[in-house]
Amino acid sequence: MGGHSIETRHLTKQFGKFVALDALDLRIEGSKCVGFLGPNGAGKTTTLKMLTDMLFPSSGECFLDGISVQKDRKRALEACGVLIESPEIYPSLTPRQALEMVADLRNVPVAEQKIRIPAVLEEVKMSDWADKKVGKFSKGMKQRVNIAAALVHDPPILLLDEPATGLDPRGMAEVRDIVRGLKKRNRLVFMSSHILPEVTDVCDEVALINHGKLLFYDTLDNVTAKFSHGQISVDVNFVHPLSDADVAAKVASLPGIVRVEQLDPRRLRLYTPGGPEEEAKILRGLISAGLDVVSFQESKSALEEVYLSQISRGD
Ligand SMILES: Nc1ncnc2c1ncn2[C@@H]1O[C@H](COP(=O)(O)OP(=O)(O)O)[C@@H](O)[C@H]1O
Ligand SMILES: [Mg+2]
Repeated sequence: MGGHSIETRHLTKQFGKFVALDALDLRIEGSKCVGFLGPNGAGKTTTLKMLTDMLFPSSGECFLDGISVQKDRKRALEACGVLIESPEIYPSLTPRQALEMVADLRNVPVAEQKIRIPAVLEEVKMSDWADKKVGKFSKGMKQRVNIAAALVHDPPILLLDEPATGLDPRGMAEVRDIVRGLKKRNRLVFMSSHILPEVTDVCDEVALINHGKLLFYDTLDNVTAKFSHGQISVDVNFVHPLSDADVAAKVASLPGIVRVEQLDPRRLRLYTPGGPEEEAKILRGLISAGLDVVSFQESKSALEEVYLSQISRGD
């Protein structure tokens, strides 16, 4: 156990009368990767900026490794690497030169830089590009250099604000892969994202935030168990539109189906207590009822359902 921690106590930020973050109480501890999930405008960047003293709270306080960011900024931030709205790296610099500048700013002794810089370039898989000018790099490669910059002083805590957002699919996959690797070295990683699969792919735990309020913070496993209510749903597409009578007589009456939702005339969502055998039985039942099934597929995960329902609520 690394024993590192990120904590917010009643952290609140108002912009005029608008409450961007509303009394956030969050305590994250250990070595793991925690996803800070929420739609655009939820308050993620605002939170991360207060955690790194880029913004001052309206009320409340943040702690990194138990040290108050508001009262003892310098000491608190020593333990922490940050990627929030990184400026473009100067195009005629190479990654090595850019990292030397950051390492100087971070007061990393030159002898140590000689070890750290190659190590972080390796960690973000940019060793082969260490001495090429950044100007010609893809956005994904530049972002990997930015991640390396956050790592250069070897901080145990990493705060990353939407590290993969704005990249093309390949760049996103690469950055995700790097982030997945970050937690291996006993680090505590706190990463914001508005993209659910990014969080479920990479993180061990998730804190869901919307409209400045924390909705829950738990392990992915617990969240899934808590919100699935022991049910899964299957989406079924049919060749022909189904009438209400068809749905009642041929679908809803099949054993193993708890509830039927008609998504559109040719598409149903079926809820079942689940299990592959149960699902197979339902599919056979549909076909024996004379319905032409085009596709039959488990639909959204429990967390996805929760996330989508949260996003659509009250916006
Ligand atoms: N400097 C600011 N002045 C006024 N409103 C702001 C400012 N910064 C952020 N906001 C508002 O606060 C809310 C949360 O923003 P932000 O933390 O950037 O959300 P997220 O990062 O989750 O997309 C948004 O509604 C945003 O418009
Ligand atoms: Mg943001």
